Amino acid sequence: MRAVLVGPPGAGKGTQAQILATELKVPKVSTGDIFRFNVSKGTELGLRAKEYMDRGDLVPDQVTNAMVKDRLSQDDAAGGFLLDGFPRNVNQAETLKSMLSDLGTGLDVVLELQVDEEEVVRRLSGRRSCPECGRVYHVEHDAPRVAGRCDDDGAELYQREDDREETIRHRLKVYREQTVPLVEFYEREGLLVGISATGPVDEVTARAKAAIAEKKVS
Ligand code: AP5
Repeated sequence: MRAVLVGPPGAGKGTQAQILATELKVPKVSTGDIFRFNVSKGTELGLRAKEYMDRGDLVPDQVTNAMVKDRLSQDDAAGGFLLDGFPRNVNQAETLKSMLSDLGTGLDVVLELQVDEEEVVRRLSGRRSCPECGRVYHVEHDAPRVAGRCDDDGAELYQREDDREETIRHRLKVYREQTVPLVEFYEREGLLVGISATGPVDEVTARAKAAIAEKKVS
């Protein structure tokens, strides 16, 4: 299974990617997570990406495409992958298409998570993340067992720099301008399935699994 998750910030891509990747037995490849890991380690890539991420802008395609190419060439991605947060615009989608075509393969499905903007703002202002394993929580909808601590490794949860309301609104604008045309691109390619991403996490997962299964047989 070679799949892409697309949707506005806060749609639940990371939450669903973590669950679906385990069930589909493929690695989850999240460009946001890779960038944040590099920022936290102070690498050259992290230093380049940070200024864009803090503003809520996209990191330049040249940097992002090279990073994804490197990640998808690793052995664990040979049998499939679930991409979370990439591609983000039509240029990145064209690059992915040619990368996969060089390997004699292509995408199976692009799953669009649909959610309205006010729900996004509510979700992101309550999000907390684990710096160790990347697991995502919400202070109300998906709280950890012990407040402020990751259920899996006990690390102290943190709030992302780009989850301030002003930056969230800018990320939504970037989504409308750059990523909505990507959704239309995948619709034309016949790869897109859209599902509602509102409601409890497990209900969204059930919708996602049904949509992927349907696409696989069609
Ligand atoms: P990235 O990390 O990809 O951020 P994003 O797309 O803005 O998405 P988020 O991670 O904010 O949200 P999500 O949809 O994963 O939602 P989540 O599951 O966490 O990118 C960050 C930055 O990196 C970008 O701005 C850019 O600078 C750079 N970047 C990344 N990829 C790039 C690319 N390809 N090109 C260029 N630059 C790139 O859920 C959100 C919250 O809601 C959580 O608290 C969660 O618990 C809660 N929640 C989830 N599901 C539900 C539900 N069903 N009901 C209630 N709450 C829920």
